[in-house]
Amino acid sequence: MSTSPTSRRFRASGPLRGTIAVPGDKSISHRSLILGALAVGETRVTGLLEGEDVLATAAAMRAMGADIERTGDGEWRIHGVGVGGLLQPDAALDCGNSGTSARLLMGLVASHGITATFTGDASLSKRPMGRVIEPLSQMGAGFTPSPGGRMPLMLEGAHPAVPITYRLPVASAQVKSAVLLAGLNTPGVTTVIEPVPTRDHSERMLRGFGALIEVSEEDGERVIRLTGQPELQPQDIVVPGDPSSAAFFMVAATLVEGSDLTIRNVGMNPTRAGLVGVLRAMGANIEELDPREVGGEPVADLRVRHATLKGIEVDPALAPSMIDEFPVLFVAAALAQGTSVTRGLEELRVKESDRLATMAAALKTVGAQVEEREDGLTIHGTGGEPLRGSANARVKTHLDHRIAMSMAVAGLASRDGVEVDDTSPIATSFPNFIALLDEVTR
Ligand code: S3P
Repeated sequence: MSTSPTSRRFRASGPLRGTIAVPGDKSISHRSLILGALAVGETRVTGLLEGEDVLATAAAMRAMGADIERTGDGEWRIHGVGVGGLLQPDAALDCGNSGTSARLLMGLVASHGITATFTGDASLSKRPMGRVIEPLSQMGAGFTPSPGGRMPLMLEGAHPAVPITYRLPVASAQVKSAVLLAGLNTPGVTTVIEPVPTRDHSERMLRGFGALIEVSEEDGERVIRLTGQPELQPQDIVVPGDPSSAAFFMVAATLVEGSDLTIRNVGMNPTRAGLVGVLRAMGANIEELDPREVGGEPVADLRVRHATLKGIEVDPALAPSMIDEFPVLFVAAALAQGTSVTRGLEELRVKESDRLATMAAALKTVGAQVEEREDGLTIHGTGGEPLRGSANARVKTHLDHRIAMSMAVAGLASRDGVEVDDTSPIATSFPNFIALLDEVTR
């Protein structure tokens, strides 16, 4: 089979051993740049994820007037323009593959008197933007989207914008954050109601930057009230390691016999840590060492040793706390003993790819037994026997970094190896993934 420059075969490996650190959290990295760009004075960030998605946010914030400089490995300095101070960008804001850049930046622009065009790659141009267009239009912004409420789109901000109370119809931290960021430059109180809690990095960081933000629980829902037009204070931010990146190594070390791997400095925010509990319930051996707080976020070192897994029914209520980890959980399930069932995962169909269809197809290509349903997958595991692998086929990743990394992990637990058609999207969130994998399996 001919190989393309970005395809790669991942083969059965030796045990994963040693101590590693994964790159900074993607969600926190985006928010560091955005909030730093709205604070007057110098914000310093260490541990910033230097992946393509986050660099797209940095470029967009520069295009709107912030002074953003890389001073070292993961070290950045930001001089912000102040809340309300964003400038009209000269060119389209190219968000690449990054839904977080697109939706959060739309929120920002929505309450400024500026107009911006948002563009992205083929994957991002297929993803629904109606979910942010709806609340931001209520706040007064004007949108000219492509058919189906998609990108490319033009956004005319409202100044002044109107504060709203918005109950999230989908459990999405991006939508929540878009409304809150719009609320920053809106007079009065902007309220977001979350029937199902999602990652709360925006709330934590807004508070850290000095915004007036109140979070309460009312009738079983999370209610977030943000008072607009604060003066944000520059911060020193230490970004914890991304639990969504650590996930690939947690599963790989669990699956490969003889592994004993420590992953340092992993974010353990309860709104993100669902996978750890699910893997443990399947029988994984994951120890939390030295739990501590870094920059307002709980972190720990995770020691992961090989274990045999059994199938599980994943409680749909856990989905938001592990929404990006399902692709690699499906790989774990494919090697577990017995059947695993996941439900309530419609949101996975609108990620960087349709992650239910893409993972079902990829796992079938390498010999796993998978049934795709509208809202989840049912997977019959091998009981620990390696997957067949793909001697003559390539798995398709559809421009989705997490599919590429998940199927790389599947390759480690396969007989013939797994050929991933395109590893280039991995650079969006985890540029040194392959190097780190090579290092710990050497
Ligand atoms: C993110 C929220 C999630 C997640 C994405 C990052 C964020 O998306 O999948 O990788 O930083 O707010 P949704 O808001 O679409 O669930």
